[in-house]
Amino acid sequence: MTAPRKLAVGNWKMNGLRADLHEARKLAAEFPSPSADIVLCPPATLIGAMAAALVGSSVRVGGQDCHFNSSGAHTGDISAGMLADAGAYHVILGHSERRADHGEASVMVAQKARAAHAAGLTAIICIGETEAERDSGQTLDVVLDQMKHSMPDSASAANTVIAYEPVWAIGTGRTPTLDQVAQVHDALRANLPDAGISLLYGGSVKPANAAEIFAIKNVDGALVGGASLKADDFGAIVAALDRA
Ligand code: 13P
Repeated sequence: MTAPRKLAVGNWKMNGLRADLHEARKLAAEFPSPSADIVLCPPATLIGAMAAALVGSSVRVGGQDCHFNSSGAHTGDISAGMLADAGAYHVILGHSERRADHGEASVMVAQKARAAHAAGLTAIICIGETEAERDSGQTLDVVLDQMKHSMPDSASAANTVIAYEPVWAIGTGRTPTLDQVAQVHDALRANLPDAGISLLYGGSVKPANAAEIFAIKNVDGALVGGASLKADDFGAIVAALDRA
């Protein structure tokens, strides 16, 4: 098996205007990574402009969702091929905010991931338990079930990344204990169809806690929300990943 690649992904969610592209340029100019892949996922309106702003740098651009069909009558949706055409190399799929806001179930996430693979994109598939599921001892059952059903047959280390994001840790400043992260990531690794697939942790990752999270075995990087909006913060997280 080839070792999983280190990867830091910034998810800008529904934040960012053209004026914010300087943060992407600054990240690329001031925080080049010798060891990790870096991806920024802005809102769809900025993908083309960000890809143009990052030409010649090692920072790649990704989408935050795609449709499972390649074209057709789907008002407001974007296909994986369109993301690739706009300059994206990755796409986040099955984020808990999409599962909650848009009712996306794992089976649909797998369809989207298949479409992403067909378009040549790397699918960053998100999974994670709610607080109620953790409190009732269901965490491993929930995340393993989500992973199994969200991953299409086409998934391999070359085109798929799994991001473990406990729903209750997203945007809250709360994180699981290091042992809790380790327990989940060990279980995910043991159940991957391809052990070379990178496993990211996401949920309130900051410069202050990045190093201890990256020191955990089977954590290959992070999916970062709020702290990815500023180049200085995201750059500090990338630097911590380089040191891990
Ligand atoms: P925060 O880093 O803001 O907690 O968001 C995590 C996340 O949802 C990334 O996809």
